[in-house]
Amino acid sequence: MSPEGDTAWTLTTLRSVGRVEPVDVPKRRFPEICWQQLLFDDAASNLASALGRVFYAHRFFLFLDRLFPAGWLRDRRARSKEEERELQEAIARKSHVGLPPARGPSRWEQRLCLTKSIRIETLQHRCFKRLRTKVNPAAPAIKYLLTMQPTVDSYRISAKYYDGAYAAMKDLVDTGFYCELARQSGGPVLEIGCGTGRILLPTAREGIEIHGVDNSAPMLAILKESLARDQPGVRDRVSIHAGDMRDFRLGRRFPLVTIPFRPMQHMYTVADQVRALTTAATHVQNGGILAFDVFYPKFERLPLGIGEEQLEAEWSPEPGTVVRRFCRRDSFDKIRQSFTITFIFRVYRDGQLTCEEQETLSMSYYTYPHLRALFLLAGLRPIAEYGSFAKTPLDKDSEEMIFLLRCSRS
Ligand SMILES: C[S@@+](CC[C@H](N)C(=O)[O-])C[C@H]1O[C@@H](n2cnc3c(N)ncnc32)[C@H](O)[C@@H]1O
Repeated sequence: MSPEGDTAWTLTTLRSVGRVEPVDVPKRRFPEICWQQLLFDDAASNLASALGRVFYAHRFFLFLDRLFPAGWLRDRRARSKEEERELQEAIARKSHVGLPPARGPSRWEQRLCLTKSIRIETLQHRCFKRLRTKVNPAAPAIKYLLTMQPTVDSYRISAKYYDGAYAAMKDLVDTGFYCELARQSGGPVLEIGCGTGRILLPTAREGIEIHGVDNSAPMLAILKESLARDQPGVRDRVSIHAGDMRDFRLGRRFPLVTIPFRPMQHMYTVADQVRALTTAATHVQNGGILAFDVFYPKFERLPLGIGEEQLEAEWSPEPGTVVRRFCRRDSFDKIRQSFTITFIFRVYRDGQLTCEEQETLSMSYYTYPHLRALFLLAGLRPIAEYGSFAKTPLDKDSEEMIFLLRCSRS
């Protein structure tokens, strides 16, 4: 996600509560860590507290110097005390103003923007892990930081086309299945890997409280936009959390936890697969259910068609415009049970190709015994298995593997 994108979103949020006048967002780098925190700050409506957090986030950044003495932070540690004081004063001044200045990046901004080169998500992930063991979690500012979760830039291109593409795929019929489970549970529901809300929003529209977790900032941004356009009643029933399905913790349990439409196929190692299922199980209340699906691999087709493009979906977002999604298989790893594909999105206006964008993603695939072993490792016990969303048995004709599980402890 670009820093400009983050900042623009934040400013929009602040603007929408009527506390800040609209400003033009200059095209340059910003202290990304601060704005990224605000991106998922549900309390952004409180400008004062949000700006306070910006201030603490900066201080927190300085604190990293002490936590990471080696490597890329060594240069920053070497700067004199005086420079550091100047930096802190500048931060304090800015946290009052709240908005970045209109001129080019100053020295302190450039320093904070070293996040650009070291990748913000890696930094956040590492420092959260260390912080958990090193600080007093009772301190209010730190508490906020500890509940923050890293986001990544995955699905950056696909996010824009996601809802259009899957609305056009008429054979994708999982929404009714997950909504029915949600109704039966009575809610609240936790959806892990909620993406743009393809299933989360219809669930909330049925009157059920639902919490969504995802680690893709672009996917969550689309979900927030859709939510902003939806009925206030629907908005009230939805909470969105940025988190990694391998280790997020919401600190509460749910009668129904779902992982719909293959987020588990973005777990590429057995360790991550067990962590994801264990994390999901941690959020299931006693007697509650975990439901998820993966596809049943078409083994004979996996090695075929490498390098070939196939048209998968076509839709018209507005009159005169047609979008086509093509899929190209790039590679196949028989040993690690994964493959790589590239989605190619082509936009045609009045029959002319006006835009082409591509994004590569990897998916793992599972066999049935592999999944059963994962359930044992994650302390889960299947109570139902289906081969399709019409609840047909899991057998040789199955194209999906769908599981309802209970925690072995309950
Ligand atoms: C195919 S989409 C499914 C989205 C949604 N559940 C649906 O039914 O349309 C997979 C989702 O899993 C999310 N995802 C992948 N890896 C993740 C991780 N480590 N933590 C959280 N979400 C992840 C992706 O960002 C993406 O939104």
